[in-house]
Amino acid sequence: MDYIKVEGGRALTGSVRVYGAKNSVLPILAASVLTSGVSVIENCPRLKDIDAMLAILRALGCEVTAEERTITVDSSGPIAAEISAEQMSALRASIAFLGALLARNGRAELFVPGGCELGSRPIDIHLWALMRLGAKIRQQDGRLHATVSRGNGCELVLPIPSVGATENIMLFATACGGETVIVNAAREPEIVDLQTYLNAAGFSVSGAGSPVIRIVGGRKTQPTQVVHRVIPDRIAAATWMCATASAGGEVMVTGVEPEPLALLGELLAEMGCGVQFVADAVTIRRVGSLQAPRATVRTGPYPGFPTDMQPLLMVPAVLAHGQTVFEENMFDSRYRHVPELNRMGAEIMVSGKYALCGGIERLRGASVCAADLRGGAALVCAALCAEGESTIRNIEYIDRGYESIEDSLRLLGADVRRVRG
Ligand code: UD1
Repeated sequence: MDYIKVEGGRALTGSVRVYGAKNSVLPILAASVLTSGVSVIENCPRLKDIDAMLAILRALGCEVTAEERTITVDSSGPIAAEISAEQMSALRASIAFLGALLARNGRAELFVPGGCELGSRPIDIHLWALMRLGAKIRQQDGRLHATVSRGNGCELVLPIPSVGATENIMLFATACGGETVIVNAAREPEIVDLQTYLNAAGFSVSGAGSPVIRIVGGRKTQPTQVVHRVIPDRIAAATWMCATASAGGEVMVTGVEPEPLALLGELLAEMGCGVQFVADAVTIRRVGSLQAPRATVRTGPYPGFPTDMQPLLMVPAVLAHGQTVFEENMFDSRYRHVPELNRMGAEIMVSGKYALCGGIERLRGASVCAADLRGGAALVCAALCAEGESTIRNIEYIDRGYESIEDSLRLLGADVRRVRG
């Protein structure tokens, strides 16, 4: 298996570009089966998870082309209703096909995407909501049989503002009669992006970004082609920001949307970094020592601090004077990078949903293993500022969310390479 080798201790300088958000592209690709036409999706990153989603679309009968960073999906022909267990388990976001295929075909035969590296990750809210809208769903040995003769819009009050459930409801509700209202909907920028795509495709969705989303079933227009440019990946941008805060230096991250990065920018500024947003770029500079932020870093649904940024921010926090307290409120297994960071000398303590860290002068190179995508990226960030050599294994997790993390960091002056084998 390939692994990443890092010789730590080099400050980062230069600029790095961010492409479209993986977590936007994935549900939009599922939504492309609703249009019975051609979708041109621009600014797509080239990632393993996206390849897995394209493989599902092809198996369903769509014509798919991917050139540079533009993906074209033609769903005008007949679309199958079945997805294999293997394809469903390749990525969790495949569950978005439940709502999409029900809306397109009135039937979906697929599999529960399964547990995952972040913990149990149930789909009970997805199933409850789709059934409230009129779908009949039977679950047997991990298999999902879903049918609908006529879906009817209604008000759905979500117990948790789940991103995936909000997306599934938005997709299915486009084919339901009347109006569907999602109360306590997820407010993430990726939800707003899905709304933009659906409206461009002639559907009628409003309110995304607020806690109440309204979907009027049916289609106002049927454009022959939908062209959509995906919003920037805020988590990729956060990775380069935290890498610079950890390794030191000055880096300009371009192609970003400032708003979803504002909270991270404020925290890094409080920790002693120079952070400057100008138009669609953010420059981050760290020369001196770091200070722990005063308040507990609590992860929460948007506009709270994103759980996906928690492992990344933990690396500069380990090196800061004073103690940083993290409170992880989203997933039950989201500290799996901690034992690996501790092998590098981080001395992080975890108790339940809390993690305490800080006051470490320097990390030392070690051989570590990624256990999930963002935790894996955090290990690479830690290796950049560690003394000596580190190797990071299980990098297939990292490849799910970064085009080629080693190439991006090498362009910023880091000594990072992928070793094949
Ligand atoms: C999405 C993101 C992921 C991010 C997460 C939270 C994608 C592809 N992934 O994941 O990167 O970390 O949002 O911002 O967009 N829950 C239930 N029952 C359900 C659904 C969710 O209990 O039916 C719980 C989950 O276990 C979790 C919480 O709700 O504790 C939030 O999960 P959710 O917002 O659904 O995350 P995902 O959509 O899976």
